Amino acid sequence: MRKPTIFITRKVPGKLLESYKDVFDIRMWEKEEEPVPREVLEKEVKQVDGLLCVLSDQVDQSVLNQSKQLKVVANMAVGFDNININYAKEMGVIVTNTPDVLSESTADLGFTLMMATARRLNEAAEYIKDGQWKNWAPFLLAGTDVYNKTLGIVGMGRIGEAIARRANGFGMTVLYHNRKRKREAERELQASYVQMDELLSQSDFVISVVPFTKETNKLFNKEAFEKMKESAVFVNISRGAVVDENALYCALKAGEIKAAGLDVFEQEPISSNHPLLELENVICLPHIGSATVQTRTAMIELCLKNIANVLEEKAPLTPVN
Ligand code: DGY
Repeated sequence: MRKPTIFITRKVPGKLLESYKDVFDIRMWEKEEEPVPREVLEKEVKQVDGLLCVLSDQVDQSVLNQSKQLKVVANMAVGFDNININYAKEMGVIVTNTPDVLSESTADLGFTLMMATARRLNEAAEYIKDGQWKNWAPFLLAGTDVYNKTLGIVGMGRIGEAIARRANGFGMTVLYHNRKRKREAERELQASYVQMDELLSQSDFVISVVPFTKETNKLFNKEAFEKMKESAVFVNISRGAVVDENALYCALKAGEIKAAGLDVFEQEPISSNHPLLELENVICLPHIGSATVQTRTAMIELCLKNIANVLEEKAPLTPVN
């Protein structure tokens, strides 16, 4: 009997594949950092039963149209805006993602970025490297407090809740906005549901954890930044396209908001001459929200289990369509 074939779009550690070698024919793009070229992806998709892809692979209609026997696409991310899930569904292809396993490490990164931005860590580290540290001074590199401040979480999913738990430990007042009210989270996390305008105007820190959809496209635009406090710190760990980057740049430059911490961008990767990098009050990271060895390993393992389940005609663990 023919073994099902799977294609993995990035090099992953061989030991994670060990237990699948007898059951699948495993094909893999052998580079870790370089994305699989589109023509290779289209060619591979023609001959595989399962695809393990990453968030920078565009699995759109034309890629899906190449497939002949594809049954499952396992996305190594919780977000899945890189995949045309409706078209996949029409074709009978199951799409899965990696929720839960990354919530805590992504919340850690969100909180780290918020604190690093508030306390100007990048400027402080550069200050020493540039040989500028000559004396102690009362307001040298003085940032803004995190403790006891108000945090506005936009998108109260699993990661949003994990951030709220951290904020509780910092004595923060937690406001949130979400498509649906989450009464249980409100009780457990002492979080208050508010309308978006109220969240923007009341929060000292605004953190975006919303998925990218038609509704959240450029949700953080000129008007949104105008509604924020001048002292507000904006943090984005969800998807770059939920922010109008030009409006953010102008708001930061004009002092309409204080600072921003960004892990995600409209077009990734950004180049070293991206306008936001010019600004001292911005920390930019290369989309590393879930990047711990433990979490990335768990994400790959979950993708492989999802693929195995579907190809063995069992229910996938974390389907999205
Ligand atoms: C996700 O899973 O969507 C994250 O952005 C990956 O780090």
